[in-house]
Amino acid sequence: MSAVSDARRRGLLIVLEGLDGAGTTTQVERLAAALKAEGHSVLTTREPSDGPVGVLIRQALTGRVVLPGAGPLAPETLALLYAADRTDHLRARVLPALEAGQVVLSDRSVLSSLAYQGASLPMEWVEAINSHAIPADLTLFVQVSIEVAARRRAARGGPEELFDAEEKQRRISQQYEAAIALRGAREHVVRIDGDATVEAVTAACLARVRELFAREPGRAPVR
Ligand SMILES: Nc1ncnc2c1ncn2[C@@H]1O[C@H](COP(=O)(O)OP(=O)(O)O)[C@@H](O)[C@H]1O
Ligand SMILES: [Mg+2]
Repeated sequence: MSAVSDARRRGLLIVLEGLDGAGTTTQVERLAAALKAEGHSVLTTREPSDGPVGVLIRQALTGRVVLPGAGPLAPETLALLYAADRTDHLRARVLPALEAGQVVLSDRSVLSSLAYQGASLPMEWVEAINSHAIPADLTLFVQVSIEVAARRRAARGGPEELFDAEEKQRRISQQYEAAIALRGAREHVVRIDGDATVEAVTAACLARVRELFAREPGRAPVR
């Protein structure tokens, strides 16, 4: 899969990244709506994906899948599951859409693995097991303070996951910086001020997406 040439990539892959509560899910939906209104063909998706390994990961994160008698899955297992899910996600969803010339908006991808799994494992190993991942044409890193992310998670509610505790989020924030240092250029990372209003964040993201469209006029055309 790493042999996918740019020539086969007629569409554009845009990934949103950020701490839990940064607003990536909100912004994927809003960006998709804005781009569709302009006539672009858009696929929204997410990692972990909705494929079989992605479902397993979500169950592990919420404690519904454990090692009998031994508790949560090992960090190594989880990291390998994320990498495996990414393979499936690319094959089943992302590459077909790119080959069809769509704009793919993914809620998280490989930088999340580097940041989250890299928090308890060597980041170089996490990167190595993700060597099949194709780089994004643009990664919008929605940057929020730990406090804002925590407030938004609390307001959102929902099940408490493995990575929710505030101290862990601080560590993940540092890990994101290390991940961006390691792979940010390849993933075309730009930073977006995520502490701003929902509308302002969407506008900032859209400005970056329009710059990308201007740089790649042949890809992801308006129909
Ligand atoms: N820029 C923003 N300002 C205020 N609230 C926001 C903003 N972005 C998202 N939210 C709210 O914060 C919560 C978390 O947003 P969400 O998109 O689920 O974050 P993520 O997917 O990054 O974890 C949601 O309730 C959402 O409505
Ligand atoms: Mg989300």
